[in-house]
Amino acid sequence: MKWHQAHTTWFFETFVLRPFLPDYKPFRDEFRWLFNSYYNSIGEAPPEKRLRASFSRPSLDQVLAFRSHVDEAMERFFAGRIDDDAARRIMLGLNHEQQHQELMLTDIKHAFFSNPLRPAYDVNPLVETRDVSPAEFMWHRFHDGVTELGYPIDSTNCLDFCFDNETPRHRVYMEAFGIANRNVTCREYLEFISDDAYGSPEFWLSEGWEAVRNNGWRAPLYWERDATDSTGWRIFTLRGWHPLSALLDTPVCHVSFFEADAFARWRGCRLPTEGEWELAASGSSIQGNSLDSGRLHPAIASGEGIDQLFGDCWEWTASPYTGYPGYKPLPGALGEYNGKFMSSQMILRGGSCVTPASHIRATYRNFFQPATRWQFTGIRLAA
Ligand SMILES: [Fe+2]
Repeated sequence: MKWHQAHTTWFFETFVLRPFLPDYKPFRDEFRWLFNSYYNSIGEAPPEKRLRASFSRPSLDQVLAFRSHVDEAMERFFAGRIDDDAARRIMLGLNHEQQHQELMLTDIKHAFFSNPLRPAYDVNPLVETRDVSPAEFMWHRFHDGVTELGYPIDSTNCLDFCFDNETPRHRVYMEAFGIANRNVTCREYLEFISDDAYGSPEFWLSEGWEAVRNNGWRAPLYWERDATDSTGWRIFTLRGWHPLSALLDTPVCHVSFFEADAFARWRGCRLPTEGEWELAASGSSIQGNSLDSGRLHPAIASGEGIDQLFGDCWEWTASPYTGYPGYKPLPGALGEYNGKFMSSQMILRGGSCVTPASHIRATYRNFFQPATRWQFTGIRLAA
């Protein structure tokens, strides 16, 4: 948590204050490389990523003092005239910080699960606020045709924000397709497990089958055997352990791309492409079970329209992460923010129950390596 706090602070110091505030004095010179994440063009190499979580120094007090120092300088900066380039960087810094707020919760969940005491982040258990019967599975059909994808950025307005990888807006031709009205539930995923899908190579991509065998995957991350529950499983949440029987109609989450893809094959379907997902989401308002709901876990689908597009779980798509036609990374070191990761990762859409609502858009492209499971990642089917 100290690292996230210091690194988001570092972002404003490095990309806003040092270049744009003339009399700015950096807090500590070594923080320039200590809290860099992955920007190679900035100079001295940052510490190894796997060691970040184990630094006992600088202390929390020092990290908070660094934050106050940068906050005060930002206040001074805001008092003067801010040019468009600086304003765009501040917008990026704020969106970057929102990404780290989400990562803090997914890291806390993983750290608490790795702790033998298995503590709860929030000790109040999940309660269903409404008596919902889960939405029946349905297909929503879309005709073939030419559509536009990507964010229509207004380049004359420095406060109009999207990440560089969401541009340029461009045309694509899509065949007719169907997309599911909701996410795959734990109940449906339990059938996949009970059918010995984890032991059946025919459902898996080659790398996925290798991951199943090497990691001993038999269920999503955070599922554990529990003989006291009728399902035989319990799930670790940010609100501690819950029997699977109480969560059967909620979306399955913390599955890898390989598991999402194997589930779709097992059901005789496939995952949506990112274009199909974006077209399906383009008419929807950004409502859903996001961080703002305070639930901190995916919730049962309500049953209206195409549900759960925003919030609940990031949805794995069948699309590899590449640049759109005509894509240009931001100039300078900030070009490393998104552009250099365009290999060996898959696109996810829609945000999760720990994504701030003001952070997500229909055009938003998240990306992770296909074996990643510690984010709130789930499944929507397409055909
Ligand atoms: Fe970062």
